[in-house]
Amino acid sequence: MTTHRIHPEGPTFSRLIAGAWRWHTVSSDQVERLISTALEEGITSFDHADIYGDHSNEEIFGNVLRKNTSLAKQMQLISKCGIKFPSSRRQETWIKHYDTSTSHIIWSAENSLRMLGTDHLDLLLIHRPDPLMNPDEVAAAFSQLQQQGKVLHFGVSNFTPAQFRMLQGHLPFPLVTNQIEISLAKTDSLFNGDLDTLMEFNASPMAWSPLGGGKPMTVDERALFNKAAKYNASYSQLALAWLMNHPSTIFPIIGTTQPERIKEAARSVNIHLDRQDWFEMLKWMMGKEMP
Ligand SMILES: NC(=O)c1ccc[n+]([C@@H]2O[C@H](COP(=O)([O-])OP(=O)(O)OC[C@H]3O[C@@H](n4cnc5c(N)ncnc54)[C@H](OP(=O)(O)O)[C@@H]3O)[C@@H](O)[C@H]2O)c1
Repeated sequence: MTTHRIHPEGPTFSRLIAGAWRWHTVSSDQVERLISTALEEGITSFDHADIYGDHSNEEIFGNVLRKNTSLAKQMQLISKCGIKFPSSRRQETWIKHYDTSTSHIIWSAENSLRMLGTDHLDLLLIHRPDPLMNPDEVAAAFSQLQQQGKVLHFGVSNFTPAQFRMLQGHLPFPLVTNQIEISLAKTDSLFNGDLDTLMEFNASPMAWSPLGGGKPMTVDERALFNKAAKYNASYSQLALAWLMNHPSTIFPIIGTTQPERIKEAARSVNIHLDRQDWFEMLKWMMGKEMP
């Protein structure tokens, strides 16, 4: 597994990141296996959010770290904040909404530390753009968390280029990423300025649902078979390689709950796609050639 800095002033992550969104659907033993398999494969960076698993996933993951206290030192932890929804764990919330106030960001980050059982996050993201976001409030929260050593770096998720630029303009340090949906099944970011803007700011994207969330893709099966055979790769390995061959240095966040599929994904990092193969894969999904 290779590693890469997500921004010249940002953290170094493994090129594939393991996402914990679906991990509440498996047993805690399986979560332990997912963590150890990822680490064995050199996937040392883990993506969380306060809300995953109805606010339970960080604690489930943290229980594994509390059991084996040497694990936390081998990994980089990412979490997100800013989404609130009604839940038995959040009695005070009665409607889904976003909250990027200074007090909520600080509370949420500190709560993530408690749940994960760690003393710092390597990266904290604002999960979704909040229409009531006051950038000065976000800046105040980020600065305090950084000064206290609780969060080392900051970024956003699902932000438009304009929202990214606006928030960056109010911060004394760089936003190191925008975590967005990118896959062969979701290619808009190649053309709508999302990736261009990140390259302008030297921030690499993180790609969520890099395999389209596992939904079957409607591609020509013969073309798929030929391409997979050419690279001696599975279709999912090709789909991840397709992302990592983009010059913005995309970090795919793999979401599998099966250790074997973590191993399979890890083998995608060394696949260098021929430029024409890359475009042919894009054509499969767009249903037409480039203009
Ligand atoms: N920022 C955001 O708004 C946002 C939104 C969504 C997700 N995320 C992050 O992105 C991560 C990944 O999202 P995702 O889970 O949708 O990613 P994904 O890797 O595209 O999809 C994973 C799903 O695909 C299935 N799958 C089917 N065939 C597979 C194969 N050959 N290899 C691997 N998986 C296969 C998996 O099932 P099995 O489990 O049975 O393998 C799993 O249900 C999340 O964990 C989370 O950290 C962020």
